[in-house]
Amino acid sequence: MDDEAKAERLQEAQTIAYPSSSGGNKRKQPEHDPTVVVLFGATGDLSRRKLLCGLGYLAVSGLGPDMRVIGTSLDDMTDEQFREFARTAIDEVGARKLTDEQWKEFAPDLSYVNTSAGPEGLAKAVAEKEKELGADRGQRVRRLFYLSVPPKAATSVISTLSKAGLTEGSRVIMEKPFGEDLESALALNAEVHKTFKEKQIFRIDHFLGKEAAQNILAFRFANGLFEPIWNRNFIDHVQIDVPESLGLDARAAFYEPTGAYKDMVVTHLFQVMAFVAMEPPTALEPRAISEEKNKVFRSLEPIQSDDVVRGQYIGYRHEEGVDPESDTETFIALKARIDNWRWAGVPFYLRTGKRMASGMRIISIAFKEAPKSMFPAGSGIGQQGPDHLTFDLADESKVSLSFYGKRPGPGMRLEKLAMQFSTEDTDRAGDVLEAYERLILDAMHGDHTLFTTAEGIESLWERSIPLLDDPPPVKLYEPGSWGPNSIHQLIAPNAWRLPFERAWHD
Ligand code: BG6
Repeated sequence: MDDEAKAERLQEAQTIAYPSSSGGNKRKQPEHDPTVVVLFGATGDLSRRKLLCGLGYLAVSGLGPDMRVIGTSLDDMTDEQFREFARTAIDEVGARKLTDEQWKEFAPDLSYVNTSAGPEGLAKAVAEKEKELGADRGQRVRRLFYLSVPPKAATSVISTLSKAGLTEGSRVIMEKPFGEDLESALALNAEVHKTFKEKQIFRIDHFLGKEAAQNILAFRFANGLFEPIWNRNFIDHVQIDVPESLGLDARAAFYEPTGAYKDMVVTHLFQVMAFVAMEPPTALEPRAISEEKNKVFRSLEPIQSDDVVRGQYIGYRHEEGVDPESDTETFIALKARIDNWRWAGVPFYLRTGKRMASGMRIISIAFKEAPKSMFPAGSGIGQQGPDHLTFDLADESKVSLSFYGKRPGPGMRLEKLAMQFSTEDTDRAGDVLEAYERLILDAMHGDHTLFTTAEGIESLWERSIPLLDDPPPVKLYEPGSWGPNSIHQLIAPNAWRLPFERAWHD
């Protein structure tokens, strides 16, 4: 990207991506202070698959500030070896590849410090990079710490940062899981708050960084058409369905004590549900959005075992690193209820699992059906299910509205038709930021809008108590299926939308 294009992108990001923080018209200008990013868990799976690639793109596209990235982990590596590691990761699994020229630009920004260097070693490395970015010439340089480490390691990283004297004015991105129940979440938050103020903490839930998830807010609140019918008078039920075809991916050590509920539902699915269910916030700014999301969580009825199907794919117990008698669920489907004026009586069905028939992420809103008697017998009214509004949260996001229309020809024969929109069809498809890119950039700008809060997370753990205390037994399912058979009873008299009866338009 040449300098002119970079400047243009930067200007757009400044004017478009950052809504007013005051609720008025004044645009909040993002800060572009040069930033030292310290990536903890730099040689781990997430770093390899998403973070290095995302940082590389932010660095070379001009969207991010001038930056230096210090990788740190338990592995022994030189700067050169870390660069090699990053290059291979980006080439092999990165969503965006860097050209040779872009790589030459990004590579010198990368360096490495072994965890064994301790607080002094880290402080020295950060000071060096701050100097390179102009700190000794009076330039303000930001510090951003990305904790891509398990919760147990997070507290020791925080204590290293504190001993190294690096925490003041810094920002810290924390990866899930944020605890594993209410008690541990409270303890973790209390521990983190000893060192960081809430405004320094960015708890990342990458589903909220997906373009399609943010589009739910635009769709609901920027149009006069849907919000008036977005309630229990018109909506029959909602499905949030995230089947995954992938399996454990060598993550047994993480997955065994975690399982599908803690890995996916408490984090991603409930967060997306809050975007679907929340009241209009007073402004698209962090406090207003968190307030509305937290109200949804407070109205969420505690999750009862009877409303949950836990599943485990056949063969899971033979995976490397898995207990041969493991009770961990690799699949979960549940019925959630939000007891407020907008949603009372409207079930929200959530489902996710590993090694399922297909990898998809959809939100489906089923509208109440029309009275059928005026149509002649055999017209087909209602036979293909209710009208649906469907959001596809894939990177190529799509929205579809299905309804009954007349089949051309004599008589009155009805069939399901659909109006569909895909981001891919627009000129802006190439501008879509990958979720981590978007969220790292927001954290660099100090924008909390798409991050979760301590209160929200604690509230969700609280509502999970009945399920965690008394989980139903796991039921086995065939890999490549849609889960155990009892998922149909859970949703009856409705039906799961997936697999779709009618495919998306090409
Ligand atoms: C992660 C979970 O947070 O999200 C994984 O730990 C899951 O188990 C992944 O596969 C799904 O994310 P995405 O963006 O690939 O749908």
